[in-house]
Amino acid sequence: MSNGGFVCAESGLPEKRYGDAVLEHFMNPRNAGEFDSPDGVGEAGDPDCGDAVRIAVRVEGDRIADIRFLAYGCPTAIAVASCLTERARGKTLDEAVEISDMEVAEALGGLPEQKLHCSTMAVGALRASLQDHVLRFLASVRPEGRKGDRCPHTDTNA
Ligand code: FES
Repeated sequence: MSNGGFVCAESGLPEKRYGDAVLEHFMNPRNAGEFDSPDGVGEAGDPDCGDAVRIAVRVEGDRIADIRFLAYGCPTAIAVASCLTERARGKTLDEAVEISDMEVAEALGGLPEQKLHCSTMAVGALRASLQDHVLRFLASVRPEGRKGDRCPHTDTNA
């Protein structure tokens, strides 16, 4: 597979900047797009490069039933968002919030050191989407006066 023509400045040999898994996710991103009515939406950006990722989730019970992402960013950001959404689908909210940027980077076979910062946006966007979901749930039960409903995520009374 081509590495895009990058050459190592020291050796003069072709430099492999992205692993095959990164290139595969970048060329064939999974779960790209949006929902009409998501249960939670979160965004995160990198102020240094101006890139951003938006993640939307559908939640059934305490599990992520479906997930989508939109990314404005480099190939790494898109590959990480694609890989992360694959890993998060079907997980409980507690499990999903524990997914780390390093875990996703490892799942992609590692990232060039200068691209590690690109792996943080999607994880931040996922966590923000889960937080948004919980806040929406709490907002949906409190005004109705349905005290005593149990939050499926915190197992506390609303
Ligand atoms: Fe901005 Fe990769 S360079 S996310």
